[in-house]
Amino acid sequence: MTRGHEGKTAVISGAAAGIGQAAAVRLAGEGARVVIADRDNADETLGLIESAGGKAIAVRCDVSNPASVSTLKEAVERNGGRCDVLVNNAGIYPMQPFDEITFEDWRRVLSVNLDSMFLMTKALTAGMRGRGWGRIINIASDTVNLMVPNLVHYISSKAGVIGFTRSLATEFGERGVTVNTIAPGLTRTPGTLNQKIPGGVSNEELFDRMANTQSIKRSEVATDLVGAVSFLASDDAAFITGQTLYVNGGLTRST
Ligand SMILES: NC(=O)c1ccc[n+]([C@@H]2O[C@H](COP(=O)([O-])OP(=O)(O)OC[C@H]3O[C@@H](n4cnc5c(N)ncnc54)[C@H](O)[C@@H]3O)[C@@H](O)[C@H]2O)c1
Repeated sequence: MTRGHEGKTAVISGAAAGIGQAAAVRLAGEGARVVIADRDNADETLGLIESAGGKAIAVRCDVSNPASVSTLKEAVERNGGRCDVLVNNAGIYPMQPFDEITFEDWRRVLSVNLDSMFLMTKALTAGMRGRGWGRIINIASDTVNLMVPNLVHYISSKAGVIGFTRSLATEFGERGVTVNTIAPGLTRTPGTLNQKIPGGVSNEELFDRMANTQSIKRSEVATDLVGAVSFLASDDAAFITGQTLYVNGGLTRST
């Protein structure tokens, strides 16, 4: 592994588990100081990073809550004050038929998945813009391009993430800050392994079904995404902004 992110601080939301954890381990392994922002205990991620000789701290934060994001901002300031790379990864994806989604459910999914982008970007990016170097990487989902049931609130929120990314990229481009989206396919993580799927389909059946729609016919795992995160966070990606990178094994048709 290179040390390409030496001297940088990366704030990664939802890094106590899953894709965020894999991204945190990768960026820390490449020299970044990592700040984990998660509503849950992140000891497992801290252990993985520290046992490999990396540096990380964890801050309990609900990224959908303005007061909690302010507390995170204060913690980042106490930790040296930098956020060079912001990975907005935390998200939720309850599967519910449209008729069962309450307005409260809708608001919760939109808030965790999309309000969080606004709150975290407002709180943490003034420094990178001032210094003229920064990377913002927002995690969306390839479901925005598919015909997937039971996820109306989720897919609406992730389509919003792509719009947020494109518009913000146009405003931050002159300040050395790129803003891009990564859109994973169905990935084996604690969230998807414990997912309740309406209609009696088992989780393993869903993984198999998705793998069969891909050019690469195996289930995606969290480490499949970390090369894309590392690249978009690097100097090599300085002229790439407003883009969505689909990391999904090459879907060949919609489900
Ligand atoms: N796993 C997939 O198949 C898949 C596919 C496409 C997109 N994604 C997206 O990738 C991201 C990560 O998904 P995952 O599968 O790794 O999820 P996961 O459920 O395995 O882990 C998510 C992490 O985010 C944290 N989190 C959730 N809500 C939070 C909040 N309000 N504030 C702070 N932390 C919070 C959780 O505590 C957990 O540590 C999400 O945005 C998800 O929508 C996942």
